[in-house]
Amino acid sequence: MTENTQDKNQDTDQGTDQTNDHGEGKSRMVKVWDLPTRMFHWTLVAMVLIGYLTGWVFAENTMGIHLWAGYITVFLLVFRLTWGIFGSEYSRLETFVFTPSHIIEHMKELITLRPVKHYIGHNPTGSMMVFGLLFVLATITLSGLMVLGGEENQGPMAGAATYAVGDMAATVHNGFVILLLAMIVAHVGGVYMEMKLTGEELIKSMITGLKKIPANTQDLKHRNARPLAAIVVMIAVLGPAGTVLWAMSAMPPSGLLDLEPNDVYESECGDCHSPFHPSLLSSDSWTKMMLDLENHFGDDATLGDDATAVEITTYLTKYGGDKWDTEAANRFRVVDPKAPFQITATPYWIRKHKDVNPEFFKLKKVGVKSNCGGCHTDHYSGSFDDQKIKIPKEKKQ
Ligand code: HEC
Ligand code: HEC
Repeated sequence: MTENTQDKNQDTDQGTDQTNDHGEGKSRMVKVWDLPTRMFHWTLVAMVLIGYLTGWVFAENTMGIHLWAGYITVFLLVFRLTWGIFGSEYSRLETFVFTPSHIIEHMKELITLRPVKHYIGHNPTGSMMVFGLLFVLATITLSGLMVLGGEENQGPMAGAATYAVGDMAATVHNGFVILLLAMIVAHVGGVYMEMKLTGEELIKSMITGLKKIPANTQDLKHRNARPLAAIVVMIAVLGPAGTVLWAMSAMPPSGLLDLEPNDVYESECGDCHSPFHPSLLSSDSWTKMMLDLENHFGDDATLGDDATAVEITTYLTKYGGDKWDTEAANRFRVVDPKAPFQITATPYWIRKHKDVNPEFFKLKKVGVKSNCGGCHTDHYSGSFDDQKIKIPKEKKQ
Protein backbone atom coordinates (compact mmCIF):
# COMPACT_ATOMS: atom_id res chain seq x y z
CA MET A 1 0.00 0.00 0.00
CA THR A 2 2.34 2.67 -1.16
CA GLU A 3 2.11 5.87 -3.02
CA ASN A 4 -1.07 7.35 -4.33
CA THR A 5 -4.49 6.65 -3.07
CA GLN A 6 -5.67 9.47 -5.24
CA ASP A 7 -6.42 9.57 -8.91
CA LYS A 8 -3.33 9.69 -11.01
CA ASN A 9 -4.16 12.54 -13.24
CA GLN A 10 -1.54 11.70 -15.73
CA ASP A 11 -2.21 13.53 -18.89
CA THR A 12 -0.62 11.01 -21.16
CA ASP A 13 -2.22 10.16 -24.41
CA GLN A 14 -1.38 6.49 -24.53
CA GLY A 15 -4.83 5.90 -23.19
CA THR A 16 -5.41 2.50 -24.67
CA ASP A 17 -2.33 0.85 -23.28
CA GLN A 18 -3.96 -0.44 -20.18
CA THR A 19 -2.46 -3.90 -20.03
CA ASN A 20 0.80 -5.08 -18.74
CA ASP A 21 2.14 -8.24 -17.21
CA HIS A 22 2.39 -8.16 -13.49
CA GLY A 23 5.39 -9.39 -11.60
CA GLU A 24 7.09 -6.08 -11.28
CA GLY A 25 6.91 -6.44 -7.52
CA LYS A 26 6.04 -2.82 -6.87
CA SER A 27 2.47 -1.74 -6.97
CA ARG A 28 0.40 1.37 -6.49
CA MET A 29 -3.22 2.20 -5.74
CA VAL A 30 -5.44 3.72 -8.37
CA LYS A 31 -8.91 5.11 -7.91
CA VAL A 32 -10.90 3.07 -10.39
CA TRP A 33 -14.58 3.07 -9.47
CA ASP A 34 -16.16 6.37 -8.55
CA LEU A 35 -18.77 6.50 -5.81
CA PRO A 36 -21.85 6.60 -8.09
CA THR A 37 -20.63 3.51 -9.97
CA ARG A 38 -20.04 1.62 -6.73
CA MET A 39 -23.42 2.67 -5.37
CA PHE A 40 -24.99 1.60 -8.65
CA HIS A 41 -23.34 -1.80 -8.42
CA TRP A 42 -24.41 -2.64 -4.88
CA THR A 43 -27.89 -1.13 -5.14
CA LEU A 44 -28.42 -3.23 -8.23
CA VAL A 45 -27.24 -6.33 -6.34
CA ALA A 46 -29.78 -5.52 -3.62
CA MET A 47 -32.61 -4.93 -6.12
CA VAL A 48 -31.90 -8.18 -7.98
CA LEU A 49 -31.80 -10.07 -4.69
CA ILE A 50 -35.10 -8.49 -3.60
CA GLY A 51 -36.50 -9.27 -7.05
CA TYR A 52 -35.68 -12.95 -6.70
CA LEU A 53 -36.91 -13.15 -3.12
CA THR A 54 -40.23 -11.43 -3.82
CA GLY A 55 -40.73 -13.07 -7.20
CA TRP A 56 -39.80 -16.62 -6.40
CA VAL A 57 -39.34 -17.27 -2.73
CA PHE A 58 -42.12 -15.27 -1.08
CA ALA A 59 -44.23 -14.90 -4.23
CA GLU A 60 -47.63 -13.21 -4.46
CA ASN A 61 -48.10 -11.24 -1.26
CA THR A 62 -44.82 -9.36 -1.70
CA MET A 63 -45.67 -8.18 -5.23
CA GLY A 64 -45.72 -4.56 -4.08
CA ILE A 65 -42.06 -4.74 -3.10
CA HIS A 66 -41.26 -6.69 -6.28
CA LEU A 67 -42.65 -3.84 -8.37
CA TRP A 68 -40.57 -1.26 -6.51
CA ALA A 69 -37.43 -3.32 -7.00
CA GLY A 70 -38.27 -3.30 -10.72
CA TYR A 71 -38.87 0.43 -10.93
CA ILE A 72 -35.65 1.16 -9.06
CA THR A 73 -33.79 -1.20 -11.42
CA VAL A 74 -35.09 0.75 -14.43
CA PHE A 75 -33.85 3.95 -12.81
CA LEU A 76 -30.47 2.32 -12.15
CA LEU A 77 -30.17 1.21 -15.78
CA VAL A 78 -30.89 4.69 -17.07
CA PHE A 79 -28.43 6.05 -14.57
CA ARG A 80 -25.69 3.58 -15.56
CA LEU A 81 -26.02 4.32 -19.26
CA THR A 82 -25.86 8.04 -18.55
CA TRP A 83 -22.94 7.58 -16.21
CA GLY A 84 -21.33 5.51 -18.92
CA ILE A 85 -21.01 8.73 -20.85
CA PHE A 86 -20.42 11.31 -18.12
CA GLY A 87 -18.86 9.27 -15.32
CA SER A 88 -15.19 9.28 -14.45
CA GLU A 89 -12.75 7.45 -16.69
CA TYR A 90 -13.28 3.79 -15.84
CA SER A 91 -17.06 4.15 -15.57
CA ARG A 92 -17.27 5.28 -19.18
CA LEU A 93 -18.62 2.61 -21.45
CA GLU A 94 -16.13 3.46 -24.22
CA THR A 95 -13.24 2.44 -21.95
CA PHE A 96 -14.44 -1.11 -21.83
CA VAL A 97 -15.46 -1.82 -25.35
CA PHE A 98 -13.10 -4.55 -26.46
CA THR A 99 -12.58 -6.25 -29.77
CA PRO A 100 -13.67 -9.89 -30.08
CA SER A 101 -10.02 -10.95 -30.29
CA HIS A 102 -9.34 -9.28 -26.95
CA ILE A 103 -12.31 -11.08 -25.43
CA ILE A 104 -11.29 -14.46 -26.83
CA GLU A 105 -7.72 -13.98 -25.65
CA HIS A 106 -8.89 -13.11 -22.16
CA MET A 107 -11.28 -16.06 -22.01
CA LYS A 108 -8.49 -18.37 -23.09
CA GLU A 109 -6.36 -17.05 -20.27
CA LEU A 110 -9.15 -17.67 -17.78
CA ILE A 111 -9.88 -21.18 -19.04
CA THR A 112 -6.25 -22.29 -19.23
CA LEU A 113 -5.57 -20.67 -15.85
CA ARG A 114 -2.60 -18.77 -17.23
CA PRO A 115 -1.65 -15.65 -15.33
CA VAL A 116 -3.96 -12.96 -16.54
CA LYS A 117 -3.03 -9.51 -17.67
CA HIS A 118 -4.02 -6.62 -15.51
CA TYR A 119 -6.81 -4.37 -16.55
CA ILE A 120 -7.40 -1.33 -14.44
CA GLY A 121 -11.04 -1.01 -15.35
CA HIS A 122 -13.24 -3.83 -16.56
CA ASN A 123 -11.43 -6.70 -18.26
CA PRO A 124 -12.76 -7.95 -21.62
CA THR A 125 -14.99 -10.74 -20.29
CA GLY A 126 -16.11 -8.55 -17.43
CA SER A 127 -17.11 -5.83 -19.85
CA MET A 128 -19.04 -8.30 -21.96
CA MET A 129 -20.84 -9.29 -18.80
CA VAL A 130 -21.69 -5.66 -18.03
CA PHE A 131 -23.30 -5.15 -21.43
CA GLY A 132 -25.03 -8.52 -21.19
CA LEU A 133 -26.40 -7.75 -17.74
CA LEU A 134 -27.64 -4.33 -18.81
CA PHE A 135 -29.47 -5.90 -21.73
CA VAL A 136 -30.93 -8.77 -19.72
CA LEU A 137 -32.03 -6.48 -16.88
CA ALA A 138 -33.67 -4.10 -19.36
CA THR A 139 -35.55 -7.02 -20.90
CA ILE A 140 -36.61 -8.32 -17.49
CA THR A 141 -37.92 -4.98 -16.27
CA LEU A 142 -39.70 -4.11 -19.52
CA SER A 143 -41.32 -7.54 -19.82
CA GLY A 144 -42.24 -7.23 -16.14
CA LEU A 145 -44.11 -4.02 -16.93
CA MET A 146 -45.98 -5.85 -19.70
CA VAL A 147 -46.91 -8.72 -17.35
CA LEU A 148 -48.11 -6.20 -14.79
CA GLY A 149 -50.24 -4.42 -17.36
CA GLY A 150 -51.47 -7.44 -19.31
CA GLU A 151 -52.09 -9.97 -16.56
CA GLU A 152 -52.66 -7.84 -13.49
CA ASN A 153 -54.24 -4.81 -15.19
CA GLN A 154 -51.95 -2.51 -13.25
CA GLY A 155 -49.25 0.01 -13.97
CA PRO A 156 -48.59 2.06 -17.11
CA MET A 157 -49.31 -0.80 -19.51
CA ALA A 158 -52.70 -1.71 -17.98
CA GLY A 159 -54.62 0.08 -20.70
CA ALA A 160 -52.37 -0.96 -23.56
CA ALA A 161 -51.41 -4.59 -22.94
CA THR A 162 -53.94 -7.39 -23.40
CA TYR A 163 -53.84 -10.52 -21.31
CA ALA A 164 -52.30 -12.47 -24.21
CA VAL A 165 -49.47 -9.93 -24.47
CA GLY A 166 -48.97 -10.12 -20.72
CA ASP A 167 -48.90 -13.90 -20.89
CA MET A 168 -46.23 -13.82 -23.61
CA ALA A 169 -44.26 -11.25 -21.65
CA ALA A 170 -44.43 -13.57 -18.63
CA THR A 171 -42.63 -16.26 -20.63
CA VAL A 172 -39.92 -13.78 -21.59
CA HIS A 173 -39.74 -12.45 -18.02
CA ASN A 174 -39.33 -15.92 -16.51
CA GLY A 175 -36.88 -17.08 -19.16
CA PHE A 176 -34.63 -14.06 -18.74
CA VAL A 177 -34.80 -14.35 -14.98
CA ILE A 178 -33.25 -17.81 -15.29
CA LEU A 179 -30.71 -16.48 -17.79
CA LEU A 180 -29.86 -13.71 -15.34
CA LEU A 181 -29.27 -16.27 -12.61
CA ALA A 182 -26.84 -18.13 -14.88
CA MET A 183 -25.07 -14.85 -15.68
CA ILE A 184 -24.77 -13.98 -12.02
CA VAL A 185 -23.19 -17.37 -11.35
CA ALA A 186 -20.78 -16.80 -14.26
CA HIS A 187 -20.05 -13.25 -13.10
CA VAL A 188 -19.29 -14.26 -9.52
CA GLY A 189 -17.29 -17.26 -10.75
CA GLY A 190 -15.34 -15.05 -13.15
CA VAL A 191 -14.56 -12.51 -10.44
CA TYR A 192 -13.38 -15.34 -8.19
CA MET A 193 -11.14 -16.78 -10.93
CA GLU A 194 -9.72 -13.40 -11.79
CA MET A 195 -8.93 -12.73 -8.15
CA LYS A 196 -7.21 -16.11 -7.85
CA LEU A 197 -5.17 -15.63 -10.99
CA THR A 198 -4.09 -12.01 -10.66
CA GLY A 199 -4.24 -11.56 -6.90
CA GLU A 200 -6.43 -8.51 -7.36
CA GLU A 201 -9.00 -7.82 -4.67
CA LEU A 202 -11.85 -7.08 -7.03
CA ILE A 203 -14.67 -7.18 -4.50
CA LYS A 204 -12.86 -4.87 -2.14
CA SER A 205 -12.17 -2.47 -4.97
CA MET A 206 -15.89 -2.32 -5.80
CA ILE A 207 -16.37 -1.20 -2.19
CA THR A 208 -13.46 1.21 -1.74
CA GLY A 209 -13.11 2.20 -5.38
CA LEU A 210 -9.36 1.60 -5.18
CA LYS A 211 -7.40 -1.01 -7.05
CA LYS A 212 -3.86 -2.15 -6.43
CA ILE A 213 -2.04 -2.47 -9.71
CA PRO A 214 1.58 -3.14 -10.70
CA ALA A 215 3.52 0.09 -10.64
CA ASN A 216 4.34 -0.05 -14.32
CA THR A 217 0.76 -0.42 -15.50
CA GLN A 218 -0.29 2.61 -17.47
CA ASP A 219 -3.32 4.61 -16.41
CA LEU A 220 -5.86 5.67 -18.93
CA LYS A 221 -5.89 9.36 -19.58
CA HIS A 222 -8.07 10.23 -16.65
CA ARG A 223 -11.18 12.20 -17.33
CA ASN A 224 -13.23 13.43 -14.41
CA ALA A 225 -16.91 12.81 -13.97
CA ARG A 226 -19.37 15.42 -15.15
CA PRO A 227 -22.18 14.99 -12.65
CA LEU A 228 -24.08 18.09 -13.71
CA ALA A 229 -24.26 16.97 -17.33
CA ALA A 230 -25.33 13.53 -16.13
CA ILE A 231 -28.14 14.99 -14.01
CA VAL A 232 -29.36 17.16 -16.88
CA VAL A 233 -29.44 14.20 -19.27
CA MET A 234 -31.17 11.99 -16.68
CA ILE A 235 -33.87 14.62 -16.18
CA ALA A 236 -34.20 15.06 -19.93
CA VAL A 237 -34.72 11.31 -20.35
CA LEU A 238 -36.66 10.41 -17.22
CA GLY A 239 -38.89 13.52 -17.24
CA PRO A 240 -40.69 12.89 -20.54
CA ALA A 241 -40.56 9.09 -20.15
CA GLY A 242 -42.03 9.34 -16.67
CA THR A 243 -44.74 11.72 -17.87
CA VAL A 244 -45.75 9.36 -20.67
CA LEU A 245 -45.89 6.40 -18.27
CA TRP A 246 -47.85 8.47 -15.79
CA ALA A 247 -50.37 9.41 -18.45
CA MET A 248 -50.62 5.80 -19.56
CA SER A 249 -51.25 4.71 -15.97
CA ALA A 250 -54.33 6.88 -15.99
CA MET A 251 -55.82 4.98 -18.94
CA PRO A 252 -58.61 2.58 -17.96
CA PRO A 253 -57.27 -0.99 -17.72
CA SER A 254 -58.00 -2.99 -20.87
CA GLY A 255 -60.38 -5.88 -20.49
CA LEU A 256 -61.72 -4.75 -17.13
CA LEU A 257 -65.36 -3.81 -17.68
CA ASP A 258 -67.42 -1.37 -15.72
CA LEU A 259 -69.83 -3.78 -14.11
CA GLU A 260 -73.15 -2.24 -13.11
CA PRO A 261 -74.58 -4.03 -10.10
CA ASN A 262 -77.85 -5.87 -10.60
CA ASP A 263 -80.18 -6.01 -7.61
CA VAL A 264 -82.21 -8.95 -8.88
CA TYR A 265 -79.10 -11.05 -9.41
CA GLU A 266 -77.68 -10.07 -6.06
CA SER A 267 -80.81 -10.85 -4.08
CA GLU A 268 -81.86 -14.03 -5.92
CA CYS A 269 -78.44 -15.60 -6.33
CA GLY A 270 -77.13 -14.18 -3.07
CA ASP A 271 -79.63 -16.14 -1.01
CA CYS A 272 -77.57 -19.22 -0.23
CA HIS A 273 -74.07 -17.97 -1.03
CA SER A 274 -72.67 -14.58 -1.91
CA PRO A 275 -73.23 -13.84 -5.60
CA PHE A 276 -70.27 -14.66 -7.84
CA HIS A 277 -68.61 -12.17 -10.10
CA PRO A 278 -70.05 -12.77 -13.60
CA SER A 279 -66.56 -12.92 -15.10
CA LEU A 280 -65.79 -16.14 -13.25
CA LEU A 281 -67.77 -18.34 -15.66
CA SER A 282 -68.25 -18.04 -19.40
CA SER A 283 -71.56 -16.75 -20.78
CA ASP A 284 -72.13 -20.21 -22.14
CA SER A 285 -71.74 -21.84 -18.73
CA TRP A 286 -74.02 -19.29 -17.09
CA THR A 287 -76.72 -20.02 -19.67
CA LYS A 288 -76.46 -23.74 -19.08
CA MET A 289 -76.51 -23.32 -15.31
CA MET A 290 -79.53 -21.05 -15.47
CA LEU A 291 -81.42 -23.65 -17.48
CA ASP A 292 -80.99 -26.26 -14.76
CA LEU A 293 -81.48 -24.48 -11.47
CA GLU A 294 -83.49 -27.39 -10.12
CA ASN A 295 -80.34 -29.39 -9.80
CA HIS A 296 -78.06 -26.72 -8.50
CA PHE A 297 -75.19 -28.41 -6.68
CA GLY A 298 -77.62 -30.64 -4.83
CA ASP A 299 -79.99 -27.75 -4.11
CA ASP A 300 -83.09 -26.50 -5.80
CA ALA A 301 -82.38 -22.91 -6.72
CA THR A 302 -85.39 -22.45 -8.99
CA LEU A 303 -86.41 -18.82 -9.27
CA GLY A 304 -89.92 -17.47 -8.69
CA ASP A 305 -90.76 -16.65 -12.30
CA ASP A 306 -89.32 -16.87 -15.78
CA ALA A 307 -88.88 -13.12 -16.14
CA THR A 308 -86.43 -13.13 -13.24
CA ALA A 309 -84.54 -16.03 -14.78
CA VAL A 310 -84.34 -14.18 -18.09
CA GLU A 311 -83.14 -10.99 -16.44
CA ILE A 312 -80.43 -12.82 -14.51
CA THR A 313 -79.34 -14.83 -17.54
CA THR A 314 -79.15 -11.66 -19.62
CA TYR A 315 -77.08 -9.98 -16.96
CA LEU A 316 -74.71 -12.91 -16.47
CA THR A 317 -74.17 -13.49 -20.19
CA LYS A 318 -73.64 -9.77 -20.81
CA TYR A 319 -70.80 -9.83 -18.31
CA GLY A 320 -69.65 -13.44 -18.71
CA GLY A 321 -65.99 -14.38 -18.54
CA ASP A 322 -65.58 -14.26 -22.33
CA LYS A 323 -66.29 -10.49 -22.24
CA TRP A 324 -63.37 -9.78 -19.89
CA ASP A 325 -59.65 -9.84 -20.41
CA THR A 326 -58.56 -10.08 -16.79
CA GLU A 327 -56.24 -12.76 -15.50
CA ALA A 328 -59.10 -14.29 -13.48
CA ALA A 329 -61.47 -14.46 -16.48
CA ASN A 330 -58.76 -15.93 -18.71
CA ARG A 331 -57.70 -18.51 -16.15
CA PHE A 332 -61.15 -19.58 -14.98
CA ARG A 333 -62.07 -20.28 -18.59
CA VAL A 334 -60.20 -23.55 -18.15
CA VAL A 335 -62.71 -25.64 -16.22
CA ASP A 336 -62.75 -29.15 -14.83
CA PRO A 337 -64.87 -31.09 -17.37
CA LYS A 338 -66.39 -33.09 -14.53
CA ALA A 339 -67.59 -29.92 -12.80
CA PRO A 340 -67.82 -27.31 -15.54
CA PHE A 341 -69.86 -24.82 -13.47
CA GLN A 342 -67.79 -24.95 -10.35
CA ILE A 343 -65.29 -22.11 -10.09
CA THR A 344 -63.67 -23.70 -7.06
CA ALA A 345 -63.07 -26.92 -9.02
CA THR A 346 -61.08 -25.25 -11.81
CA PRO A 347 -57.41 -26.25 -11.93
CA TYR A 348 -56.41 -22.61 -11.52
CA TRP A 349 -58.54 -22.05 -8.41
CA ILE A 350 -57.23 -25.24 -6.82
CA ARG A 351 -53.63 -24.38 -7.64
CA LYS A 352 -53.91 -20.85 -6.28
CA HIS A 353 -55.55 -21.93 -3.03
CA LYS A 354 -53.76 -25.15 -2.22
CA ASP A 355 -51.38 -23.35 0.13
CA VAL A 356 -54.07 -21.27 1.80
CA ASN A 357 -54.54 -22.38 5.38
CA PRO A 358 -57.78 -24.49 5.37
CA GLU A 359 -58.74 -22.87 8.66
CA PHE A 360 -59.15 -19.55 6.85
CA PHE A 361 -62.11 -20.89 4.92
CA LYS A 362 -63.88 -21.71 8.18
CA LEU A 363 -63.59 -18.21 9.61
CA LYS A 364 -66.93 -16.64 10.51
CA LYS A 365 -66.64 -13.98 7.81
CA VAL A 366 -65.73 -16.56 5.17
CA GLY A 367 -67.64 -19.74 5.98
CA VAL A 368 -67.14 -21.57 2.67
CA LYS A 369 -64.45 -21.51 0.04
CA SER A 370 -66.84 -20.15 -2.56
CA ASN A 371 -67.25 -16.95 -0.54
CA CYS A 372 -64.62 -15.15 -2.60
CA GLY A 373 -65.40 -11.76 -1.08
CA GLY A 374 -64.51 -13.08 2.36
CA CYS A 375 -60.83 -12.79 1.46
CA HIS A 376 -60.67 -10.90 -1.84
CA THR A 377 -61.65 -7.34 -1.00
CA ASP A 378 -61.74 -6.44 -4.70
CA HIS A 379 -63.89 -9.38 -5.88
CA TYR A 380 -66.68 -7.06 -7.02
CA SER A 381 -64.32 -5.58 -9.62
CA GLY A 382 -63.30 -8.94 -11.04
CA SER A 383 -59.61 -8.12 -10.58
CA PHE A 384 -58.71 -10.56 -7.80
CA ASP A 385 -55.53 -8.66 -7.27
CA ASP A 386 -52.84 -10.23 -5.07
CA GLN A 387 -52.44 -7.01 -3.14
CA LYS A 388 -56.15 -6.92 -2.28
CA ILE A 389 -56.32 -10.21 -0.39
CA LYS A 390 -57.22 -9.74 3.25
CA ILE A 391 -57.84 -12.70 5.50
CA PRO A 392 -60.42 -11.65 8.12
CA LYS A 393 -59.04 -11.30 11.62
CA GLU A 394 -61.74 -12.89 13.79
CA LYS A 395 -61.69 -16.48 15.02
CA LYS A 396 -63.93 -19.34 14.01
CA GLN A 397 -67.15 -19.46 16.08
C1 HEC B 1 -81.05 -22.60 -2.67
C2 HEC B 1 -79.74 -22.09 -2.45
C3 HEC B 1 -79.01 -21.56 -3.68
C4 HEC B 1 -79.43 -20.56 -4.51
C5 HEC B 1 -80.69 -19.73 -4.47
C6 HEC B 1 -78.34 -20.38 -5.49
N1 HEC B 1 -77.33 -21.24 -5.22
FE1 HEC B 1 -75.58 -21.39 -6.24
N2 HEC B 1 -74.96 -22.83 -4.99
C7 HEC B 1 -75.68 -23.37 -3.94
C8 HEC B 1 -74.92 -24.41 -3.31
C9 HEC B 1 -75.33 -25.23 -2.12
C10 HEC B 1 -73.69 -24.48 -4.00
C11 HEC B 1 -72.53 -25.44 -3.75
C12 HEC B 1 -71.73 -25.02 -2.54
C13 HEC B 1 -70.89 -23.81 -2.79
O1 HEC B 1 -70.12 -23.81 -3.73
O2 HEC B 1 -70.98 -22.84 -2.01
C14 HEC B 1 -73.75 -23.47 -5.04
C15 HEC B 1 -72.73 -23.22 -5.93
C16 HEC B 1 -72.78 -22.30 -6.94
C17 HEC B 1 -71.70 -22.06 -7.85
C18 HEC B 1 -70.35 -22.75 -7.87
C19 HEC B 1 -69.47 -22.19 -6.79
C20 HEC B 1 -68.17 -22.89 -6.68
O3 HEC B 1 -67.93 -23.57 -5.66
O4 HEC B 1 -67.35 -22.77 -7.57
C21 HEC B 1 -72.12 -21.10 -8.72
C22 HEC B 1 -71.32 -20.49 -9.85
C23 HEC B 1 -73.46 -20.73 -8.32
N3 HEC B 1 -73.82 -21.47 -7.25
C24 HEC B 1 -74.25 -19.79 -8.98
C25 HEC B 1 -75.52 -19.46 -8.59
C26 HEC B 1 -76.39 -18.55 -9.31
C27 HEC B 1 -76.02 -17.82 -10.59
C28 HEC B 1 -77.54 -18.45 -8.63
C29 HEC B 1 -78.75 -17.62 -8.97
C30 HEC B 1 -79.45 -18.04 -10.15
C31 HEC B 1 -77.44 -19.32 -7.47
N4 HEC B 1 -76.23 -19.90 -7.49
C32 HEC B 1 -78.40 -19.48 -6.53
C33 HEC B 1 -76.92 -22.95 -3.54
C34 HEC B 1 -77.69 -21.98 -4.12
C1 HEC C 1 -59.91 -17.95 2.77
C2 HEC C 1 -59.67 -16.86 1.91
C3 HEC C 1 -59.95 -17.00 0.41
C4 HEC C 1 -61.14 -17.30 -0.21
C5 HEC C 1 -62.48 -17.57 0.43
C6 HEC C 1 -60.87 -17.25 -1.63
N1 HEC C 1 -59.57 -16.95 -1.84
FE1 HEC C 1 -58.70 -16.64 -3.65
N2 HEC C 1 -56.90 -16.42 -2.75
C7 HEC C 1 -56.69 -16.41 -1.40
C8 HEC C 1 -55.27 -16.26 -1.14
C9 HEC C 1 -54.61 -16.18 0.22
C10 HEC C 1 -54.65 -16.21 -2.41
C11 HEC C 1 -53.16 -16.07 -2.73
C12 HEC C 1 -52.55 -17.43 -2.66
C13 HEC C 1 -51.15 -17.43 -3.16
O1 HEC C 1 -51.00 -17.11 -4.33
O2 HEC C 1 -50.26 -17.78 -2.42
C14 HEC C 1 -55.70 -16.30 -3.40
C15 HEC C 1 -55.48 -16.23 -4.76
C16 HEC C 1 -56.51 -16.11 -5.70
C17 HEC C 1 -56.32 -15.79 -7.08
C18 HEC C 1 -55.00 -15.54 -7.77
C19 HEC C 1 -54.63 -14.10 -7.71
C20 HEC C 1 -53.35 -13.86 -8.51
O3 HEC C 1 -53.31 -12.88 -9.24
O4 HEC C 1 -52.41 -14.63 -8.37
C21 HEC C 1 -57.54 -15.76 -7.67
C22 HEC C 1 -57.87 -15.42 -9.10
C23 HEC C 1 -58.50 -16.07 -6.65
N3 HEC C 1 -57.83 -16.27 -5.46
C24 HEC C 1 -59.85 -16.16 -6.84
C25 HEC C 1 -60.75 -16.58 -5.88
C26 HEC C 1 -62.15 -16.84 -6.15
C27 HEC C 1 -62.83 -16.69 -7.49
C28 HEC C 1 -62.70 -17.22 -4.97
C29 HEC C 1 -64.14 -17.65 -4.72
C30 HEC C 1 -64.65 -18.69 -5.55
C31 HEC C 1 -61.66 -17.19 -3.96
N4 HEC C 1 -60.48 -16.81 -4.56
C32 HEC C 1 -61.84 -17.48 -2.61
C33 HEC C 1 -57.64 -16.50 -0.40
C34 HEC C 1 -58.97 -16.79 -0.63
